[in-house]
Amino acid sequence: MLKYFSIVQALSRSALAMPNEAVTHQIRRLKESLEKDGFTKEAKSLEALLTASESSLEMSPSKIQRSFVVLKGEEITPKTSIPVDKETSTPLAEIFFPDDLPEKAPMFDGNIQLAIHSIVNEWSKFDQLLEINATPASSCLIYGAPGTGKTHLAKWIAKQIGLPVVLARLEGLMSSYLGTTSRNIGNLFTFANRYKCILLLDEFDAIAKLRNDPQEVGEVKRVVNTLLQSLDSRHEKGFTIGVTNHESLLDPAIWRRFDIQVEIPKPSPEVMIQLLKNFITPLEFNESEIKFLAWCLDGSSGADAEMLSKWLKRAFVLERESNIVEVMKQFAVLNSGRVDTKKRNVMVHSDEDFINMLLNDKVYSFKQKDLASLFGMTPSTLSKQLSKFKDSEKI
Ligand SMILES: Nc1ncnc2c1ncn2[C@@H]1O[C@H](COP(=O)(O)OP(=O)(O)OP(=O)(O)O)[C@@H](O)[C@H]1O
Ligand SMILES: [Mg+2]
Repeated sequence: MLKYFSIVQALSRSALAMPNEAVTHQIRRLKESLEKDGFTKEAKSLEALLTASESSLEMSPSKIQRSFVVLKGEEITPKTSIPVDKETSTPLAEIFFPDDLPEKAPMFDGNIQLAIHSIVNEWSKFDQLLEINATPASSCLIYGAPGTGKTHLAKWIAKQIGLPVVLARLEGLMSSYLGTTSRNIGNLFTFANRYKCILLLDEFDAIAKLRNDPQEVGEVKRVVNTLLQSLDSRHEKGFTIGVTNHESLLDPAIWRRFDIQVEIPKPSPEVMIQLLKNFITPLEFNESEIKFLAWCLDGSSGADAEMLSKWLKRAFVLERESNIVEVMKQFAVLNSGRVDTKKRNVMVHSDEDFINMLLNDKVYSFKQKDLASLFGMTPSTLSKQLSKFKDSEKI
């Protein structure tokens, strides 16, 4: 059992990200049994997870307590010198102080939101957990499709904890000189371990790209080994966040080094509506207009919603009387990668098909009245058009 305790602990942590009575009850039972058999350290670590989960449920994002002590190490200041690549003199990392980090939480579905708050809570209380000998998670891998807000999320977590971010893009650490990449990784981690900070390894998959080059086999092995050793060296020294959108390319050994792994999905219709409302301000659109935009962007990312919002702002500033459907059609044609192909084809083909597709959508359930106003018709013109369309289909 104790041989596998780290797995039990990870399982409990994942289960408590979305706690329910049964989960809490079973983990408490396990804790009590461990205590009875004299495994005090393990029992305390489960107790700490239970406490962290309870307080995370009570917490609202704005009330997250900043941790003051967290980790040992020197403070980073604007004067701290950042290590550089010896061949090119390019800095190996960029520093973001808490003031440079995003205040606004990224928007996700409720269960992801909850899991993220539990990480923030655990990290904010890291010192208290260490005091009772519990081993809190110290590393987290964030993965998911491009533009879903992963980098934003990593920076926001750092903002909540109140530590500066040492941001390294793995691509930037790669050097064409043999051996230099490993040295860069080593120097980066030595730097991060010396200071109180969150080490953010963005675009982590860059290492995997190297692997496709058959001439680089030896070098890749060396780089992966250095990375593994460096990640081990960082354990209990500071928090590390890895970000990637090609998680399947990551070496399983690297994958295992991360205590927590969070997948960020593409936004659901509800989240897409929230994102659009947020990005579109100060423009004002009514609920059915926002729902219409969300429908058009179904399956796209938060970054796409931001892009569409900029597009709408430009269109409505240039011409106040623009029609939202027409603007959306232009967007679909000129941003073909951002709008689902089937929807795009119907949108540009004919308004009748477009309206029918919207009316038949079970998830969004548009009303005829709302579509009439979107397409600039009266409800009776719309129903006449639809019945004409039905008649022509019968012929
Ligand atoms: N869920 C979200 N909540 C708030 N903003 C979001 C969300 N998803 C994307 N964005 C916005 O989209 C832009 C891109 O986000 P970000 O760079 O964090 O994505 P990413 O997942 O790291 O993308 P990539 O994989 O391409 O690096 C940012 O301006 C970000 O604020
Ligand atoms: Mg990113």
